[in-house]
Amino acid sequence: MESIVVKGGRKLSGEVIIDGAKNSALPLIAATLLAENGSCCLDNVPDLRDINTIIRLLEGMGAVVQRQGRRLEIKTTAVDNCQAPYELVKTMRASILVLGPLLARFGQARVSLPGGCAIGARPVNLHIKGLEMMGAKISVEHGYIIGQAECLTGADITFDVTTVTGTENLIMAAVLADGVTTLRNAAREPEIVDLAAFLRKMGAQIEGEGTHTVTITGVEKLSAAEYQVMPDRIEAGTFMVAAGISGGDVVIKNAPLAAMGSVVTKLQEIGLKIEPLTTYKEDDLLTGVAVRVSRGAEGLRGLDIKTMPYPGFPTDMQAQAMVLLALADGTSVISETVFENRFMHVFELQRMGVDIEVEGRTAIVRGVAMLSGAPVMASDLRASAGLVLAGLAAEGETVMSRVYHLDRGYAGFEKKLRSLGADIRRVEEN
Ligand code: EPZ
Repeated sequence: MESIVVKGGRKLSGEVIIDGAKNSALPLIAATLLAENGSCCLDNVPDLRDINTIIRLLEGMGAVVQRQGRRLEIKTTAVDNCQAPYELVKTMRASILVLGPLLARFGQARVSLPGGCAIGARPVNLHIKGLEMMGAKISVEHGYIIGQAECLTGADITFDVTTVTGTENLIMAAVLADGVTTLRNAAREPEIVDLAAFLRKMGAQIEGEGTHTVTITGVEKLSAAEYQVMPDRIEAGTFMVAAGISGGDVVIKNAPLAAMGSVVTKLQEIGLKIEPLTTYKEDDLLTGVAVRVSRGAEGLRGLDIKTMPYPGFPTDMQAQAMVLLALADGTSVISETVFENRFMHVFELQRMGVDIEVEGRTAIVRGVAMLSGAPVMASDLRASAGLVLAGLAAEGETVMSRVYHLDRGYAGFEKKLRSLGADIRRVEEN
């Protein structure tokens, strides 16, 4: 097992380039299952554990996947095994994203129920309900979702709760269905806009992506296409916090600023200076731009944050913002409205001297002058990023174990931070 060791106190400076978005690459790779012929080429695919997992999933189905750096070539014409086994799904819940494409193209699927994870129960009932409304026969046997569908038919579906992968799964199910599907109360995340753009290049007919109502008109078949994954807005936000918490001055390249409105606004209110270095179109969520980030002269001010579905403040930035607020003047109230158990990082941060109280889905953060380095343990992907950020600002050394959580969503995180001047390295745990 590996650990990350970081000695705090260095002001970060220099340039860092943001990778492709994990939460876009995963549905895009799943969507290649819909291509009747040809090879899909995806560019700007990040080198992450979760990407390796979904590649193994598709290869197990009979897909042929070739990777050259950030470029993936995926041929799914020979797929003949519509299964997603427990051994892989248990390591990555987003494997559920193959369910919709498998039912759409092959009319059958056997996908392990993704268990919960550290941050919550993570049910997939809304995915299943929507597919049943489209005519799929679905049963759950021995921990597996078994789906059958002669031909999916268009339906008018309203999500009880806004779900990102639920919206993505049903869009992918609907593109080959017979008739028109309308998804209401759909998620509006930029990664859904990315997915719709790729599916449209494959021949799909989709309207309204990025709004609460998405309409999909089924077509006969889809063909392979090329596509470039959008930049990762959460990685970009994480590096903005890294610049601010270290008191440094960093240029972040390829940040999808138009997709980061609520994050940029909140970080500026806390006291970060965030200056785009090039002009960009507010309505172009998918293009990266360069931005310069530093801590403002007035220091860091506490404020309240409530996580919400897009375009609200993302739950995936909650841990990172909390660490910044732990060093801000005043008291902040953080409400985590999306997941029921996404404060595990608090108990590790308390070992580093934060003054935070958790009451249910609310955390009361009282700013302190300094954090102290300590041995801590990562519990989930974004919590692990938050702990590393805390280590950057802490006095002394922080050793974070269970680094595999971090590697699920950040490619070479410590290497990028080291290139910005951080005293950070990865070590084998004895
Ligand atoms: C996606 O997860 C992301 N993962 C998560 O990122 C992100 O935190 C989350 O959206 C919220 O933005 C990927 O895109 C691969 P949801 P997802 O369905 O789709 C409830 C990361 O760190 N719900 O939008 O699984 C659910 O319990 C990860 O990169 C149901 O009740 O999240 C939650 O309370 C972590 N029934 C809420 O909806 C369902 O059938 C939102 O979950 C589905 C969801």
